[in-house]
Amino acid sequence: MGCTVVAGAFWGDEGKGKIISYLALKDKVDVCVRTGSVNAAHTVVYKNKKHALHMVPSAFVYEKSRLLIGAGVNVHVPQLLKEIEETDVEDRVGVDPQCSIIEEKHSTKDKSSAHLKGLGTTGWGVGPAQEERVRRTGKTAKEVPELAPYLTDVALEVNTAIDAGKNVLLEGTQGLMLSLFFGTYPYVTSRDTSASAICAEAGVGPTKIDHVLLVYKSFITRVGTGPLPGELSKEEAVKRGWFEIAAGTGRERRSAPFNFDLAKRAVMINSATEAAITKLDIMFPKCRDATSFEQLSGEAKEFIRKIESATGVPVTIIGTGPSVFDIIDHRELDT
Ligand code: IMP
Ligand code: MG
Repeated sequence: MGCTVVAGAFWGDEGKGKIISYLALKDKVDVCVRTGSVNAAHTVVYKNKKHALHMVPSAFVYEKSRLLIGAGVNVHVPQLLKEIEETDVEDRVGVDPQCSIIEEKHSTKDKSSAHLKGLGTTGWGVGPAQEERVRRTGKTAKEVPELAPYLTDVALEVNTAIDAGKNVLLEGTQGLMLSLFFGTYPYVTSRDTSASAICAEAGVGPTKIDHVLLVYKSFITRVGTGPLPGELSKEEAVKRGWFEIAAGTGRERRSAPFNFDLAKRAVMINSATEAAITKLDIMFPKCRDATSFEQLSGEAKEFIRKIESATGVPVTIIGTGPSVFDIIDHRELDT
């Protein structure tokens, strides 16, 4: 598989955690680099256990995977240490010394600022930590004694792995519509979330990328404020089974039908080479637990084909249930 970037297409919560954990096990991913920050919760359901990861890379399920935190990340130290312990990955985590640190004051500011509250931020303090980083008064990982055992040159490790032909995943967060540059500004997060930004945060240049895998969900959800084209009432969302509660913050998610124009735009800005879609079973319950394309209902097949023709990019991985292996993988057929 070489080096793959995994990016979200919409407003986050597309199911990147599930896709990344599947790829980690299936493709025996040697190195996974987490980007972004603690505001993103990536859900992984493996061996009947549900993990909501804010810091540890979603590839942790494959026990040989090296788990790195890229220099672009803002690290929340207590959350990282807690997750390292819960997932028992102490011996294979690496943190770049240049990561910036989210401190208590950042979270306090995130929660108390009327402006940020108006945007419906997650309250973790990522925006204020980014402000401080840009002002060049931020604290870095190399100044934190608890992180000393984990410090490593992430850019060097990941580039060495790519050059040696190893399987590498770059794990993005949120989705394109929450990008500081390309999203629904000002109702966005505090960083670019496109594939290029994911590469930059990990320290990998564009010529080293083999695949850009864009992740869609079969319907769209959004937490926080800001526009959501085609938004359904809560009542309608409940009726369709699309009503969700956020894994990280416990907030109610707003929802809308799949948007083919936004998918096309996300394919363009991410230069996606292929796509994954999750929760097809929520949209078409007959598809639950399907593991081959042939098992899908006619309606579901038509939906996938419509996405492919609207975007020009094949949908090679399809999620049909919550667990890591509830998946249809037909990458070989398309490549
Ligand atoms: P912040 O990233 O906490 O500053 O929040 C800014 C906006 O991005 C808010 O609308 C959040 O709900 C949204 N957001 C941030 N992280 C995530 C995520 O991982 N999933 C979904 N929405 C997110
Ligand atoms: Mg999430």
